[in-house]
Amino acid sequence: MINILGIESSCDDTAAAVIQDGVLLSNIISSQKVHESYGGVVPELASRAHQQNIIPVVDEALKKAGIKKNELTAIAFTRGPGLMGSLLVGTSFAKGLSTALDIPMMDINHLQAHVLAHFIKEDKEDTNQPVFPFLCLLVSGGNSQIIVVKSHNEMEIIGQTIDDAAGEAFDKCAKVMGLGYPGGPIVDKLAKEGNPERFRFNKPHIKGYDYSFSGLKTSFLYFLRDELKSNSNFIEENKEDLCASLQKTIIDILMDKLRKAAKDLGIKEVAVAGGVSANSGLRASFEEHVHRFGWKIFIPKFGYTTDNAAMVAISGYYKYLDKEFCGMDAAPYARVTV
Ligand code: KG4
Repeated sequence: MINILGIESSCDDTAAAVIQDGVLLSNIISSQKVHESYGGVVPELASRAHQQNIIPVVDEALKKAGIKKNELTAIAFTRGPGLMGSLLVGTSFAKGLSTALDIPMMDINHLQAHVLAHFIKEDKEDTNQPVFPFLCLLVSGGNSQIIVVKSHNEMEIIGQTIDDAAGEAFDKCAKVMGLGYPGGPIVDKLAKEGNPERFRFNKPHIKGYDYSFSGLKTSFLYFLRDELKSNSNFIEENKEDLCASLQKTIIDILMDKLRKAAKDLGIKEVAVAGGVSANSGLRASFEEHVHRFGWKIFIPKFGYTTDNAAMVAISGYYKYLDKEFCGMDAAPYARVTV
């Protein structure tokens, strides 16, 4: 039996999970509330909270899985990208535990882990997994990428944002409207009550499969500034329509490039991953592509859209099978792509 402990601490969630022969036994997350009042993650506070949470979270993951420390086969940890102070907590903890137990470690790229979340099995019978090669739209607070996934351990980024990520576009526009943080889920909720055709915002013209969201953010900001001059209640009176129109624009930008990539490469298995994949409009657009273009789609369960350790553990499992271990010199990295 192969028992993998996964540890995730790249941003503001301290998480641990245990996977046995590819099947998830436990998945524990401690989310840090301390950042809410700052309107964004405060790196120093995040690392302090990880330091306090890591032992209880790992302990609970092992308990819930019914696995003792000495039954672990190997440890997978998020090496990057992420916040350096946060990554250091998980990385150092993994090194300490692997030394104490004398078991190997696998270093995991956080972005690849989001993609491999599609291979998490909640039970042995779960076989609904994408077939290689498939396309994955990875959309989070820090990334917007189109990835060709060739195998569990081989991925190629064919398109990515040249400035802001899709999640950032949601969050920054929500902030301008005074909607709170993180803005993505709030915009999603309000958009359900609004008219997506009411307002039009600029879409970028970028070549290939790359994205850009900074122009949208600027045009949204200028539009509001102009409207507020004549009506100081404009945002309050129109927030549902503003959110619906903004969300539609972001989704159109994402899907136009993804559809182009799928068509050019002749790939019909298409997955979505990352925090923004929780968005109900984006999910609906994926469903629509099944009917219109014959796609077979893979949308993660809500619990696997945001940062979690189950995705780290499953990535570790496949690295373990390929004997891709790392040494004590595996230092965390703040920035990198897949
Ligand atoms: O992957 P993730 O948890 O971590 C980061 O990479 O930061 O993604 C977080 C991002 C945030 O920008 C958040 O606003 C966005 O995902 N998000 C959403 C929704 N839920 C989370 N964006 C739009 N609609 C949602 N329902």
